[in-house]
Amino acid sequence: MKETIKNHVRAGYPGIYLISAEEARVESELKAVAGDLKHGLHIWSITTGLVDVAQKGVRDCHDAVEVLQAIGELPENTMILLRDWHVFWDDPNPVAVRMFKEELRSAKTRGKTIIALACRQRIPPELEREIVVMDFSLPTAEELETVLDGIAASAKLPKLKKEEKFTFLDAAKGMTTTEAENAFALSVVETGELDAAVVARQKAETLKKNGLLEVIETAESLDSVGGLDALKDWLRKRKEAFSRHAVEYGLPSPKGLLILGIPGTGKSLTAKATAAAFGLPLLKLDAGRLYGGLVGQSEGNVRSVIQTAEAMAPCVLWIDEIEKGFNGSKSSGATDGGTSSRVFGSFLSWMQDKKAPVFIVATANDVSQLPPEMLRKGRFDELFFVDLPNQEERQAIWGIQIAKHGRNPSDFDLGHLAKATEGFTGAEIEQAFVDALFAAFAENKEPGDLSISEILTEAVPLSRLMAEQINELRKWSKGRARPATNPEKETLLRRIAA
Ligand SMILES: Nc1ncnc2c1ncn2[C@@H]1O[C@H](COP(=O)(O)OP(=O)(O)OP(=O)(O)O)[C@@H](O)[C@H]1O
Ligand SMILES: [Mg+2]
Repeated sequence: MKETIKNHVRAGYPGIYLISAEEARVESELKAVAGDLKHGLHIWSITTGLVDVAQKGVRDCHDAVEVLQAIGELPENTMILLRDWHVFWDDPNPVAVRMFKEELRSAKTRGKTIIALACRQRIPPELEREIVVMDFSLPTAEELETVLDGIAASAKLPKLKKEEKFTFLDAAKGMTTTEAENAFALSVVETGELDAAVVARQKAETLKKNGLLEVIETAESLDSVGGLDALKDWLRKRKEAFSRHAVEYGLPSPKGLLILGIPGTGKSLTAKATAAAFGLPLLKLDAGRLYGGLVGQSEGNVRSVIQTAEAMAPCVLWIDEIEKGFNGSKSSGATDGGTSSRVFGSFLSWMQDKKAPVFIVATANDVSQLPPEMLRKGRFDELFFVDLPNQEERQAIWGIQIAKHGRNPSDFDLGHLAKATEGFTGAEIEQAFVDALFAAFAENKEPGDLSISEILTEAVPLSRLMAEQINELRKWSKGRARPATNPEKETLLRRIAA
């Protein structure tokens, strides 16, 4: 980060809008840049006024207009850091906007760089093209290690081994230094030692605060998914792809996977199981929330998602119902000044170019809503289509669901149950078993084949009501997506059954 800032200052950029919640880190990097370039550094906030860091002199100026005036009087080759600048641009004062523009112009000729530090993106349209927006990247593993060492030393803990450190640092990846410091400290207070579980929990909570990403803890593994053998094989082959061994071997890290198909057939379940199969943390993106009402907010959201996902890499980024988040890009332009296409475009180009090992699992059940660019080669490694489960798959799903609800599958005739649920999805099979449990509980009994059959006579699977849509989806996926279930097996079974 220091190098990027330094290069911009040297190249004569008059204005940088720097997004970060980490004032202390920003300031220490800027001090280093100023030292390297032999530039002056002034730091301003509304309470302290404009402080000359080297000379310790202070100019009294306690609002945006005053500080902009003061900047004009500073000598050449100076960097000026303005703290909390988003506050002044939430509802910009027209005089301050005009002055900022003028100061940028004179700064350019006099080797000054104005750095507006903000924790969110707020730029008046008049200034959007005059200032470069930069995200101050999250701390690297080395920076977090310094924080960790500091906490360990102040808590007088025994010296940590390298491997022990890795687990704590992995748990802290994606947090700011302050957040990591607090999480490490909390784990010491709660457990008397450093505890990766506490750190991971704190991280989950901090991410939840911005509402875009969520860390999901899941117990699902590929064994919890019935059927979908082709899809599971594909995942198993890539299981080791993120290991250090694979990286050294020179395997490119897989980009990701789009799973589309009929509702209730286990797409979300597979997404969760993927993280467990890969042994990676799972981040869920709420794509619908990327769009914010204020100018620049959506773009800022995308950048923050990308930044966090990359900081947490290797990880699995799960985008559930992707069509809901990105369909706006079609109608955009007319409705929102092109924001959603821009947001969508920057996300797509990240998907294509990303170097960090972030594996994307996207799920969708309405392809007609998905923009075609999304489906082009290179974005996802593979597109899988999940159909209704076949006989063999339904049998496996019955077994899994019965066991999941604490009953013994061998007490049931799974083949018969599977036959009786032709046209049912996995979710519907689960629902049928849950209904049977309720019915049996009311009668003080255990569920059995007979009571399940009774429930099934009344159940109407969605596939009957949605036959047309399902056929459309099947037609669309032919030749475009790979079946999640090996087709040979299915036709073979059908032939035997006939
Ligand atoms: N193949 C399967 N194997 C085991 N359980 C399944 C399977 N398919 C569905 N289920 C059960 O149904 C539940 C719902 O499935 P899931 O949420 O994964 O469906 P989905 O395909 O994501 O549906 P939607 O398109 O509506 O989001 C799962 O949590 C699981 O209990
Ligand atoms: Mg789902």
